This record gives sequence, C-alpha cells and structure tokens, in this order.
Amino acid sequence: MLDLRDLEVPVVGAPMAGGASTPALAAAVSAASGLGFLAAGYKTADQVAVEVEAVRAGTAEPFGVNLFLVAPFDPDPELLDAFRRSLEPEAARLGVDLGEPSWDDDDWRAKLELVLGVRPDVVSFTFGCPDPEVLRALAGNGILSTVTVTSVVEAQEAVARGAASLAVQGPEAGGHRGTWDLEAVPDHAPLLDLLSAVVTAVDVPVAAGGGISDVGGVDAVLVRGAAAAQMGTAYLLADEAGTNPVHRAALTDPAFAGTDTTRAYTGRWARGLANRFMAEHPHAPVGYPHLHHVTAPLRAAAVAAGDAQVAHLWAGTGHAHARSGPAAVITSSLVP
Ligand SMILES: Cc1cc2nc3c(=O)[nH]c(=O)nc-3n(C[C@H](O)[C@H](O)[C@H](O)COP(=O)(O)O)c2cc1C
Repeated sequence: MLDLRDLEVPVVGAPMAGGASTPALAAAVSAASGLGFLAAGYKTADQVAVEVEAVRAGTAEPFGVNLFLVAPFDPDPELLDAFRRSLEPEAARLGVDLGEPSWDDDDWRAKLELVLGVRPDVVSFTFGCPDPEVLRALAGNGILSTVTVTSVVEAQEAVARGAASLAVQGPEAGGHRGTWDLEAVPDHAPLLDLLSAVVTAVDVPVAAGGGISDVGGVDAVLVRGAAAAQMGTAYLLADEAGTNPVHRAALTDPAFAGTDTTRAYTGRWARGLANRFMAEHPHAPVGYPHLHHVTAPLRAAAVAAGDAQVAHLWAGTGHAHARSGPAAVITSSLVP
C-alpha cells in the first residue's frame, strides 16, 4: 500500500470537482512524482471509471480518487425559499430558471463499489468520514484511505475509525471547506497551527493544504510534520486543468484582488475570488447540496456569458501566485 511519506515529490495535486481536475492533470502530477487526484464529486460512477482508465493510460505512477460524503440534511424551508427568491432577478437577467433544491448522496454507493473494484492507490474523502467497515475494506484492497479533516476533533475521530492517512485542510484553502458538520462554523485556526495540533494528536501520515503556493509554503508544512503539501489553486491554471475560461481569466485579472468565504453558491462554506454574487448574498442559508442545485443553472449561464461576477471562482488565499504552464513544471517549481 502507498505511504504518503514515500512520495518522491511531497506534493499532492488536490482533487478539484466541478471541472478543474482532469485525468490529464492527475496523470501529469503523478508522472512528475507527486500524487495526482481525480475528483469524483458531481460525476456518475461510470464517468469516474472512464477517468480512472484515462489516468492509467497516461501514467503507471500512483494516483488517487476523491469522493464526497454527503450527510442527510433538511434545510429550513423558509430560509431556502427566501434565498431562492433573492436569486430570481439574477436568473431573469441571465435568462435561466433556477434549479430545484434537493438532496442526494452524490451516488456514494456506486462510487464506493467502483473504487473498491478499480483500486486506485489512494481514495480520499471530503465532507465526512466513512464508517470503519468502509475504511477496512479499502485497506483490505490495498488502497490507502485519506480522510479530509479541518479540526483536531475530526482528525482524532477519523483515526479512531481507521483512516490510514489524513488531508488536513486549513481555512486558507480554495473550494469547499471539508468540515464534517454542515451547520458548524468551520475552524479558523490557520493551517500551520491546525497542522501542528493534528500531528501532535494523531499518529498517521498527513497531507496538509490551504493557501500553499510556493516552495516556502511546501517547506513550512513539511517542517511541521506533514508528509506532503496538498495544493489545488496552484494547479488551476495548469495546461492540463479543466478550469473554465471565466475562472482562468479571473485568476489572472488584477481586479480580483482577494478571496472570501461564502455559502451562497452551494449551501456549504467555500472560498473563492470575491465577486458581486458573494457580496450580494452574505446571509445564504445552510443547505448542501440543495443550494448547489438551485444555483447550478445560474452558474452555468454566467460561465456561458463570461460573467465572473456571478460564476463561482473557487481559489485559495495564495491565488496570486498561480502560474500557467505544464503541470510537471508547476510541480517541480514547488519542490523544496
Ligand atoms: C476548484 C477547487 C475544487 C475543489 N474540489 C475539491 C474536491 O472535489 N474534493 C476535495 O476533497 N477538495 C476539493 N478542493 C479542496 C482541495 O482539496 C484543497 O483542500 C485546496 O485546494 C487546498 O487549498 P489551495 O486551493 O489554497 O491549494 C477543491 C479546491 C479547489 C480550488
């Protein structure tokens, strides 16, 4: 079984659902001796199976697949309704109907069965922690399990359930915060403090991510006991990334000077480049994936219209350092 401490290049190319992660990106990071990831979130199990084949066609090196673990949740119907109404003018302006709020488990069982069958070297989880039997089944199939944690309590619980490794995610991270309790306010301790506390509390290898954008950032987490640095934003402009053109352009536009966190796009806290949509909806209710489904047509229309003030632009605090070019070059530029 792979051990994160054995990576020749201690860099994990973070899974990025929604388009940025591609088989070509995962294969390129792994071929550069880091650890590339496929993002299974929002895809069908069949689509993920095709992507696994594509990575294997591109490299014989180890790679991972990331799954969402979506807990059942009933949003407050009145808050949900009010939020939906507040989006109607924007939807009318973009000429689309809003989506229906609904819950689904992102096809959890089918994807779990798939990974147990196709056996990528690593399977990581976000938004929660699988039951001990699932973690045991992965280990029994020679697959390294990695559970995303955002607090010491989550880290201890993941290890108690049998997680073989952790992805420690700080508040600087781009995209969704993986906090298990959807209603909790995510921990604000900076990554380096969180990492130090986690490696003191548990004894499994960890990858640490959130806001890391250069060699110094990678070195800082290694010095504090991480086996690898996990980076997403640093790869958003990679040639192999599937980042949409609106997102790519915003990442290099000086007008987008900073990031903020919001629940307005999906009903779960996430960090992205600050834009008008985030500013206009500061009080979006909790409700994942309900809000994700409500805003999906709006976001798709915004991308089609080239409207970066409405499209979601996930990015971590290190976004200004993201560089375009082949993922292999980006990976080697991050090696201490
Ligand atoms: C566009 C984007 C999509 C993401 N999607 C996922 C995902 O599907 N699963 C996951 O575990 N983490 C996801 N993340 C979070 C990363 O795993 C990681 O925590 C984060 O990228 C680290 O912070 P950084 O972006 O500052 O490097 C995503 C991040 C970004 C930027």
